[in-house]
Amino acid sequence: MLTEIVITHLRNLERVSFSPDSKINLIVGPNGSGKTSILEGIYLLGRARSFLTNKYKSIVQQGKTNCTVFGRVAVDDHSPRLSIGVSRSVDGASQIKVSGQKVRNSAPLIELLPTQVINPDSFSLLTGGPGARRQFVDWGVFHVEHTFLKSWQKFSRCLKQRNGLLKLRTSGAKELAPWNEEFVECARIITAQRESYLARFSPYFEKALKQLTSLDDVTLSFYRGWDEKLELQAVLMESLARDQKRGFTHYGPQRADIKIKYLGMDSGESLSRGQQKMVVCALKVAQGCFFAESTGRESLYLVDDLTAELDEDHQIKLCEMLGEIKCQVFATSVDISSFSEIWSRKPHSMFHVEQGNLIEAQRVSPHIWRS
Ligand SMILES: Nc1ncnc2c1ncn2[C@@H]1O[C@H](COP(=O)(O)OP(=O)(O)O)[C@@H](O)[C@H]1O
Ligand SMILES: [Mg+2]
Repeated sequence: MLTEIVITHLRNLERVSFSPDSKINLIVGPNGSGKTSILEGIYLLGRARSFLTNKYKSIVQQGKTNCTVFGRVAVDDHSPRLSIGVSRSVDGASQIKVSGQKVRNSAPLIELLPTQVINPDSFSLLTGGPGARRQFVDWGVFHVEHTFLKSWQKFSRCLKQRNGLLKLRTSGAKELAPWNEEFVECARIITAQRESYLARFSPYFEKALKQLTSLDDVTLSFYRGWDEKLELQAVLMESLARDQKRGFTHYGPQRADIKIKYLGMDSGESLSRGQQKMVVCALKVAQGCFFAESTGRESLYLVDDLTAELDEDHQIKLCEMLGEIKCQVFATSVDISSFSEIWSRKPHSMFHVEQGNLIEAQRVSPHIWRS
């Protein structure tokens, strides 16, 4: 849970500082006022990167050399507050600090601020390439299987070495043999953890989908990155000539995917755009719900431009579901009246943003709202 946040020199935000509500935070303001930038700042704090771009020059405020986000987080109500900070400069360099100590990678941030994003981009989860779906599964596996990160890092190093040798084009089966062995062993661990995660996650997805829609034939299945009827060792041998020709490894966990089907067909093609959005919302809600139940901790939801993306009926359902799971929500909208209506039954804090400044913060409890 985020208890305090300070964002400096990020896009049009010169300096924005606030103490969020522990549950629901609504950020309203006209177009271009800085709502998405506030969510981008929070995401930066939890991942050390942006959810919109890899070009750090564009997120740092024009004329400044770096942007900084500072926050205080509590793992739960009883644990002490920790301070975390992320700074990114125009040349892309990053600096991460946890409790005043520099850390080398973003893993401690991800651990402290488990963040889910629901924004216009996330609605392409079903239609886009497998990378985003792989990331979706790995987010979950990372948080529930503590050995996953180590296995994944070991695997990535091995894949890099193997691809490096393949690029030389002079190395044959003999040079690749030691890497193949490690590749297969890491792949076995990663695949087992991903499969086990998806098996446990699926009932949560089915339940969330039922609450949000009347669709009942949406299935999730896992593609491990190679034909599961074959041993990976044999697949590597078989594809050696092709790997050598192209200079990279064609099969393995780096190619895994979740196949999401409706009526047995690719959901990206068989569902309407609106239905796809609901499936994505169900996946995201189910992930936070499963995370809360399996770890006892809460996650953070960044929900951007909700009123522009979903019809009112589905917005209400989504808000109710987010209100029920253990999580802290930051949601934005241009439309204050429909937003207030949707969230009116839950206590929340409302923040008004104008031209990069937070101009007003209100605590709204349902009791006061109705009187
Ligand atoms: N690097 C930057 N420096 C200064 N301003 C920027 C930078 N990048 C974007 N902006 C401006 O910051 C504002 C960001 O708005 P945004 O957070 O997307 O608004 P909202 O989500 O409220 O519509 C826009 O007006 C945009 O032109
Ligand atoms: Mg926006």
